[in-house]
This record gives sequence, structure tokens and C-alpha cells, in this order.
Amino acid sequence: MICILCANFFRLTPRKIIIAIDGFASCGKSTLARQLAARLQYIYIDSGAMYRAVMLHFLKNNIDFTRPESLKKGLSEAKITFSFNPETRTNEVCLNGRNVEQEIRDMRVSTKVSELSKIKEVRQAMVKIQREIGKDKGIVMDGRDIGTVVFPQAELKIFLTADFDERVRRRYEELKAKGIAASREEIASNLRARDLIDTTRKESPLVKAPDAIEINNTHLTPEEQLEKVYALAMERILAPA
Ligand code: CDP
Repeated sequence: MICILCANFFRLTPRKIIIAIDGFASCGKSTLARQLAARLQYIYIDSGAMYRAVMLHFLKNNIDFTRPESLKKGLSEAKITFSFNPETRTNEVCLNGRNVEQEIRDMRVSTKVSELSKIKEVRQAMVKIQREIGKDKGIVMDGRDIGTVVFPQAELKIFLTADFDERVRRRYEELKAKGIAASREEIASNLRARDLIDTTRKESPLVKAPDAIEINNTHLTPEEQLEKVYALAMERILAPA
């Protein structure tokens, strides 16, 4: 395997690429994207966190996003940015300057976020920010439409899948570790509902890009999936332009 330092030694010229990781809810996209970005010293952006933060704004301020005027007002008020947390070495999402990384994982947000994410105006606003962040490449972004809509030119596209029961188990453990209350049944029905909305919506539905590499990680450890995707990334990083 070739790492960036060895590549420099052998005078291979590493180039910055865009890595898009898409897939269903809770199949390990964020874990993979975060670890991969850290290994490559790339920026990591969790695009789902942006939709969640906008949803949080609507919930907190009791704004009805189904009414066009309220939607417009709410969207213009919700300023989404990221701030780097040196402890977690992650870009954490901020809503109007306040870090909301923890709050957006709440089930109240999870229950509603996919309804909001269906809306064209919401998607256009998020995609604009995402493209701006990725304009200099050197980025790993995970979500639903990253390889199809946000960065169709991404040099590496991964479509991650995992068995449903395993996805429920992972989300249950994740929320428990964060001290967020949710039963397995509640999580299962939320994942099912979001998968359905995300795959059937009119605007940028979740689909595998034709040039994406599908990886089912049900039986892979985080380290194994990282090694696999890191090798794919290095092939592209070191490929002659
Ligand atoms: O982490 P999890 O799999 O639960 O989902 P997420 O990445 O936090 O995304 C939350 C929701 O935002 C998804 O269910 C989608 O409805 C929406 N989303 C989207 O529409 N497009 C994206 N690029 C990312 C998320």
C-alpha cells in the first residue's frame, strides 16, 4: 500500500481529489468519511448534518416549512457553517454561529428531517454551500446526492450499504453512547421512513451513481472498510492527471 509520504519519496505527485460517500441512513458513511479524511488530511463534511441543522431551526422557532412564505423566511434565517473541533478532529455543524452537532442527532430532528430535505429550495441552498466548501477539492463529503448532484465530477464515489438489522443496531449503540434516548423500534421505523422518502423523492433522490463503487459493510469492521476505500482513494490520488 502506498501512503502520501511514500508517494512523495517516490516522486509520485499526489493530487487533491473529491471523495463522495452516499448511502442509506445509518450505514456507516460518517464513520468512514471521518476516518478517511483524517488519514488523507482532507476536509470532512457531513452533508446530512446541514439538513439536520436547518430542521432544528424550523423546530426551535416553530416554523411551518410546508408554507412557502415561512419556508423562505426560515431558510434565510438559518445560517449553516462548520467549526473545527480539535478534540474530535471534525468539522462540526453550527446554526447561526452555535455548535449544534449534538442537538441535531435528537429523534425530534430525525423524524422530520427527510420531509424538509425533499424541498427543492432547501436542497438548492445546501448544495450551494457544499460546492463552495469543496471548490478546492481535498474533501470527503457524505450524504445522499453527493456523487450524483453535488459533485458529479468526484474522482471517487462510494455507495455504502449494510443490512437493515445491522444499521438499526449501530444507530442504537451510537445514540446510547451519546446519551440520546431512543428505542430500537423507534430507530427502525425512523430508518425505514427516511429511506423511503430519500429514495422516492422528486428532487435528487438517493440513487447509486453509475460510476460509484458499492460496498456492503455489514461484515466489515470500520478498519477494514477504511483500508478498502483508502486504497481506492490512493489509486486516484496518484493517477496521472
Ligand atoms: O446519519 P444518517 O444516516 O441518519 O442521516 P444523515 O446523513 O444525518 O441525513 C439526515 C437526512 O438528511 C437524510 O435522511 C436525508 O433526508 C437528508 N439528506 C439529504 O437529503 N441529502 C444529503 N446529502 C444528506 C442528507
